[in-house]
Amino acid sequence: MSEELPSIPGRGLPVSARAPGKCIVFGEHAVVHGAPELVFAVDLMTQVFVTAGSATRLNADSEASLRNAYFRSALDLAWKDGPTVEVRAVSRIPKAAGLGSSAAFVAGLVAALSSVTGGIDRPTLAQRSFEVERGAQGVGSPGDTSTVVAGGFVAINGGPGEPLWSVRSPEHRWEVRRVSDPGWVWVIAYSGVPRSTADAVRAVGARLAAPGGPEILEEFRRVATEGIEAVGRGDRSTVAELLRRNQELLREVGVSHPRLEALIEAGAPAAEASKITGAGAGGSVVALPVPGKETELVRRFARAGALPFVVRPTSHGASLVDD
Ligand code: PMV
Repeated sequence: MSEELPSIPGRGLPVSARAPGKCIVFGEHAVVHGAPELVFAVDLMTQVFVTAGSATRLNADSEASLRNAYFRSALDLAWKDGPTVEVRAVSRIPKAAGLGSSAAFVAGLVAALSSVTGGIDRPTLAQRSFEVERGAQGVGSPGDTSTVVAGGFVAINGGPGEPLWSVRSPEHRWEVRRVSDPGWVWVIAYSGVPRSTADAVRAVGARLAAPGGPEILEEFRRVATEGIEAVGRGDRSTVAELLRRNQELLREVGVSHPRLEALIEAGAPAAEASKITGAGAGGSVVALPVPGKETELVRRFARAGALPFVVRPTSHGASLVDD
């Protein structure tokens, strides 16, 4: 049976909402072209506070709607003709690291603004958050925004049972399904190398449209489909093997980076497998630690110059924060 996720209720100003970060396990980039993806929400949060104000500002910046494309896009799509508001955003998610800082900001802000305009059901929050992110980035899939709206483990275009919802763009339609959390601890290591998601997505799009591209996309599809099934049944060794294969494919489409390869190598003695998570070309890797070697893996990543996090999936998607 399909899970019913609670709607965001209507509230007056001031209002506060929060949303988690995310970690992509399988299928980034290929999901933009309709292939499956597996993502989980991580227990690092962004919290957004919205109050009445004499000018619309983000973290005291009255030029933010010119400078910050996500903020502008959220105001355009979720606050049309609304009164001026003062927005404050506080986040524990590192920016441009592949951990969903923009998706968490967008989903938290859209949840808060939509609450003031009467409330929003979750499928609509997922669709609107995607449109806001896409309005700001110009490219991309709804994988990040749907995961931070749903919480937990989420399969895009794959997975068992009835969809939680579907999300549409003019070119594609993605179905979003729940996958059960196998209860594992994951380690993410941020390389400190910043990158642009939109540039990486465009470069991979060009590679997949070139000769040999459709075959690579097909292999991405196979790996993610089998990976979603293996996570669902808690089969660690198959997941590890598929993570390694997924990394080879990401390398092949050109989004690895010498710093990421060095991290994967440094972590290898304490990891069952590691791969890029997110757009790549910088950003972060995700690793499945050898059980009992979580601390050693964190030390290895830190010694190799990364910022490591032990992350636990969270079942909490975007929600209002009631005091
Ligand atoms: O840069 P990130 O972590 O938000 O990852 C984006 C994932 C992509 O598949 C590369 C793009 C997308 O919108 O799905």
